[in-house]
Amino acid sequence: MTAPVTSHDASHAQPHFADGCQFAKVTVAANDRLARDTYRLRVTFPGLARRIVPGQFVMVRLAGLNDPLLGRPLALYDTVVDAAGQVTGVEVVYRVMGKATARLSQYQAGQSVELWGPLGNAFSPAATEHLIMVAGGIGHTPFMALAKEFLGVRSYGQRRVERAGRVTLCYGERSAEYFAAVDAFRATGLDVRLSSDDGSLGHHGRVTDLLRQVLDENGNRGRVVCCGPEVMMAAVARLAAERSVPCQVSLETPMACGLGICFSCVAKVRQADGTYDYKRTCVEGPIFDAEKIEF
Ligand SMILES: Cc1cc2nc3c(=O)[nH]c(=O)nc-3n(C[C@H](O)[C@H](O)[C@H](O)COP(=O)(O)OP(=O)(O)OC[C@H]3O[C@@H](n4cnc5c(N)ncnc54)[C@H](O)[C@@H]3O)c2cc1C
Ligand code: FES
Repeated sequence: MTAPVTSHDASHAQPHFADGCQFAKVTVAANDRLARDTYRLRVTFPGLARRIVPGQFVMVRLAGLNDPLLGRPLALYDTVVDAAGQVTGVEVVYRVMGKATARLSQYQAGQSVELWGPLGNAFSPAATEHLIMVAGGIGHTPFMALAKEFLGVRSYGQRRVERAGRVTLCYGERSAEYFAAVDAFRATGLDVRLSSDDGSLGHHGRVTDLLRQVLDENGNRGRVVCCGPEVMMAAVARLAAERSVPCQVSLETPMACGLGICFSCVAKVRQADGTYDYKRTCVEGPIFDAEKIEF
């Protein structure tokens, strides 16, 4: 691993979510297939790993290649802890979508990627009696670390979170072969509920059916966090609003820099006075209150 470089000296500037960003060319420690088209990449990067918290992301670029030129944003899945209890690396889980992820899926341990982060804000650390995580497809990735944090299994960065009374994951996929890490989620002690579009695993139907069931059972308590395709997040946001349950969404807007420079990642966000403004998902997000997003 080359020595990480901090993005800039922020002593004279407004605080900014990318201020603590480090960049390094890092060696792939592992790149394992978890499910159909779905892989878990592990790299050693202690400086980044000690500071990243659930909901933040990293940018990954294929070192030495001009095509694709740009990095791709991938959410923190988990950090790696060595036998001595030191946090040494990060894991991301990605689904093959296009050029970058297809090439990355061919990488072997020992090859290099360029990586920068931690980036973005984070899920709220606010205490809750019931944290309900709703994931559509590859949108499950930010919830491994968040689940461990709210179950008291792990802590991340400097933040300390009060253990939630209960943590539930509602996870929907197209079909059985796409479900990733279900056993690992269950091993954390989570209440895991699955749905598939074709009925090949779990409930035959939408992940919003699972959320409705959880809210019926718990009397519309706790709060919801959600990540997945936009149409699914819009449906989750509507249901949470109908039940007066707070909801945060993690937007997956395509990004170029991840640092707040290029404005390629803007989302339409409602302001306190009811008007809308365009916010950069990479620095003012990716986590937003669902009620503020114009889906
Ligand atoms: C904050 C954040 C966190 C993310 N975390 C993860 C993660 O943990 N795991 C993961 O697999 N993916 C994640 N993504 C999405 C991921 O960045 C894209 O899938 C990836 O950039 C695709 O790169 P590619 O070169 O393989 O595909 P491209 O060639 O860039 O795109 C292939 C196809 O996918 C579409 N596409 C590309 N990006 C997106 C997107 N963001 N949303 C919808 N369609 C898209 C393109 O329009 C195109 O049709 C995240 C995105 C953001 C913004
Ligand atoms: S990706 Fe460049 S400003 Fe957000």
